[in-house]
Amino acid sequence: MFTKKSLENVFNGDIIGKEIIFFDSISSTNDKAFEIGRKRGNSEGIVIIADTQTKGRGRLGRSWISPPGVNLYFTILLKPTLPQEEISILPLIISVAVVNAVRNNTGLKAAIKWPNDILMNGRKTGGILMEMKSAGGKITLLAVGIGINVNMHEDMVPEDIRPFTTSLSVEADRPVDRAGLLGEVLAEMEKTYKILLNGDKRALINEWHGLNSTIGKKVAVRCQDRVISGIAEGINDRGGLIVRLPEGEFETVNAGDVTMLHN
Ligand code: BTN
Repeated sequence: MFTKKSLENVFNGDIIGKEIIFFDSISSTNDKAFEIGRKRGNSEGIVIIADTQTKGRGRLGRSWISPPGVNLYFTILLKPTLPQEEISILPLIISVAVVNAVRNNTGLKAAIKWPNDILMNGRKTGGILMEMKSAGGKITLLAVGIGINVNMHEDMVPEDIRPFTTSLSVEADRPVDRAGLLGEVLAEMEKTYKILLNGDKRALINEWHGLNSTIGKKVAVRCQDRVISGIAEGINDRGGLIVRLPEGEFETVNAGDVTMLHN
């Protein structure tokens, strides 16, 4: 069971994890992070974690199922000094840190589905929701929310998403220590974030390429009110997905949901 004490020292980096704030139950760790970030002068690196969320949010307006006692739901506050146009690549880069942490901690071969879904054997086991506050064209606060299905049993998952959802314990066939995995994710985040701040975005994009399961595949991308089908050719510097359409031209999608199509 998570306790305030057991989490306080799970990872204390130069930037990430200088303070870890635990709640048994809150609406969403992203909301709590903004609330705390607004009150604190220097909030970069603070981690807010909850055992359960009553209104966990996913990408594209979806909800994120957040039962107690089994998974990881946490948000890291960042104030990157990066130009705003570079911020869109950040969730992809964070997915590199999460996948590396899962691989190191469990030995499971987790992969990334564009843009930042964490998959095991084609099923979702984690996701990232980055939200931001800005003023006068400048980002004042970034909340990087990470959800990882760690020890969630299949019967805790609503039936409609059960075929597409899994957890690390289901895949590994053994329980996974949540606090140990959290420490590993924060350590990888610190490493990755420092590389980004040092200007080596290219190395991280290359690493994303090495860990992703989307590029080179035939895909359908649902974006806003339409679906684009074609071959996923690569990503651009802002993390957009470049799709080669059947007629040969290219289209770049900035946000959407990918389904793999079988030939
Ligand atoms: C996705 O849809 O793939 C993103 C899921 C992100 C879920 C996490 S759980 C912690 C944080 N708080 C939220 O309400 N959402 C994110």
